Amino acid sequence: MEFKHTPIMLEEVIEGLNIKPNGIYVDCTVGGGGHSFEIAKRLKSGHLYAFDRDSDAIKKSSQVLEKFKDKVTLIKSNYKEAPDILKTQYGIDKIDGFLIDLGVSSYQIDEGERGFSFVHDGRLDMRMDKEEKVVTAEEIVNTFSYEELVKIMKEYGEEEFASIIAKNIIKQREKEKIETTFQLRDIIENSMPKKVVYSRGGASKKVFQALRIYINGELEGLDELLEKLIDLLGENGRGCVLTFHSLEDRIVKNVFKLESTNCICPPKTPICICGHKAKIKLVNKKPIVAGEKEQKENSRSTSAKLRIIERI
Ligand SMILES: C[S@@+](CC[C@H](N)C(=O)[O-])C[C@H]1O[C@@H](n2cnc3c(N)ncnc32)[C@H](O)[C@@H]1O
Repeated sequence: MEFKHTPIMLEEVIEGLNIKPNGIYVDCTVGGGGHSFEIAKRLKSGHLYAFDRDSDAIKKSSQVLEKFKDKVTLIKSNYKEAPDILKTQYGIDKIDGFLIDLGVSSYQIDEGERGFSFVHDGRLDMRMDKEEKVVTAEEIVNTFSYEELVKIMKEYGEEEFASIIAKNIIKQREKEKIETTFQLRDIIENSMPKKVVYSRGGASKKVFQALRIYINGELEGLDELLEKLIDLLGENGRGCVLTFHSLEDRIVKNVFKLESTNCICPPKTPICICGHKAKIKLVNKKPIVAGEKEQKENSRSTSAKLRIIERI
């Protein structure tokens, strides 16, 4: 299957990074290489280090970025390791910008057999890194307890029908193993009032998102990664983060708020005792959203939020 992914808010991201031709840049989520291509194009003596945990993404982006191969280093790794890899393997202790474009690519969603989509039938897998030995969605729905299933759906999907869906998953798996995305989708849809199924535009979206986040530990260590990347940024260096749901956006917003604040003492403290100093400034007070045209052309962009910061 052809790897297709349209980069979200491409112009806004490139403008936000304010690329210096001799700068060192880090793309933590290279995906299909769309954003990276535009970064690499603007580099002269600079260099781009691009990470992804999915080997298909690394393969695709190495083709897309072929003509910039002297300026781009592709690294198959979880982005949590990126700051350490940059320091220990490449001797990089200052960067001029970073990009994190969170979540899954359209390719991962459209490739049915990866199990990310309730629109395509496929095995319930949902691992972003196919070589990683982590639990799959199939193992979760067939072996996890009622309480564990409810917790995952509530915590990572904010699914209000979590209890009834969990009950129905357990009832169904006693009859037959749940192996495919369509089997799971049917259980979810049959657990909700028809009115909700039709009004939601993707009734299974929240549960699929919850499983994906849990399996890939998508929220774990995101705050720590942001802290480490901020520390790596040189003066005036820029960071851009694209989020697609409130759980990840909250983490990004909180780290950026904390690191752009001078004193974090409780409000009534007469003089500052914390000594906290702002490391960054917010380039935009409010997150940027995709323009009307992009939202019409690419439905994935409708939930996207872009936050940009600058190191001071
Ligand atoms: C939205 S796509 C990025 C698309 C990319 N900006 C482009 O223009 O094509 C997100 C990518 O992040 C990768 N990813 C998600 N979590 C990751 C993690 N913890 N470490 C490394 N890559 C990750 C996914 O495998 C996916 O390829």
